[in-house]
Amino acid sequence: MLRHVLSAGQYTRQSLEELFDLASNIKANPEKYSKSIEGKIVATMFYEPSTRTRLSFETAVLRLGGQVISTENASSNSSVKKGETLKDTVRVLQNYADAIVIRHSDVNSATDAASVSRVPILNAGSGKGEHPTQALLDMYTIREKRGKIDGVKVAILGDLVYGRTIHSLIKLLALYNDVEIYGLSKKDFMLPQEYIDFLKEKNINYTICNSFNDIPKDIDVMYHTRIQQERFEGDFGKEEYIINKEVLSNFSENTIVLHPLPRTGEISEDIDDDPRALYFEQAGNGLYIRMGLLLQAFNKEVVE
Ligand code: NCD
Repeated sequence: MLRHVLSAGQYTRQSLEELFDLASNIKANPEKYSKSIEGKIVATMFYEPSTRTRLSFETAVLRLGGQVISTENASSNSSVKKGETLKDTVRVLQNYADAIVIRHSDVNSATDAASVSRVPILNAGSGKGEHPTQALLDMYTIREKRGKIDGVKVAILGDLVYGRTIHSLIKLLALYNDVEIYGLSKKDFMLPQEYIDFLKEKNINYTICNSFNDIPKDIDVMYHTRIQQERFEGDFGKEEYIINKEVLSNFSENTIVLHPLPRTGEISEDIDDDPRALYFEQAGNGLYIRMGLLLQAFNKEVVE
């Protein structure tokens, strides 16, 4: 069976733990994997802008000994300009590459691509839908810091409507026991009902907050996100809920602050040196998770 990464929903607790163990193994001993996918070519097709995701995927391929063919600006490529569908592009690319990493504005892009592909597809962001590899590295970072995920209390902030990393994160958190989620956002960016229903179905308490005061002081994780201005018409103004030194001083010394990045003012630079500010470390973990995902896609994973 092909090992696509399409949605956070495809993971189980066990498959997550396997990936995390693999990523930790790679992180502790990266040289051991430096030739693991020698001879493999991975295509990265980005129809939307990206810095971290594309470069960490490409670094992951190179660190595993593979090679990359890449287009950073796929939406202005000849195939799109000429009206080629994503499916046709995949039908062609699979003749050149052994795996394809795709970021695209359509929520169904990854599943559409997988439906015609005989090589693994890795979803690097599908519109406002999902961003599973980001949520995997988010969960990995939480587990690394906290030791476990059961019982975790997470506040999600920012753009809960269009923030695809949030949607994938919710699906992964739902695999664990005694999880509590708190949402704090401007009115126009509150968590859509379908996700509230999903959490209810999974017996996860979801609390809508109206200010930082409504978030428990001993919250484990504050996960902020950028308002995804490029995904909607109109201007709903700037983020109101900014995590800065003063805000953070009200929370526990064990509270960690995460953000998928890029930040656009929702986390103030005055907390960057606080040991609880883990967003850059989180981005660093993206490399090991993506190396792990590539090893799995090529059935080359070994955990010792
Ligand atoms: C996120 C994305 O593209 O969804 N970025 C990322 O991959 N780290 C978040 C964002 O763009 O705000």
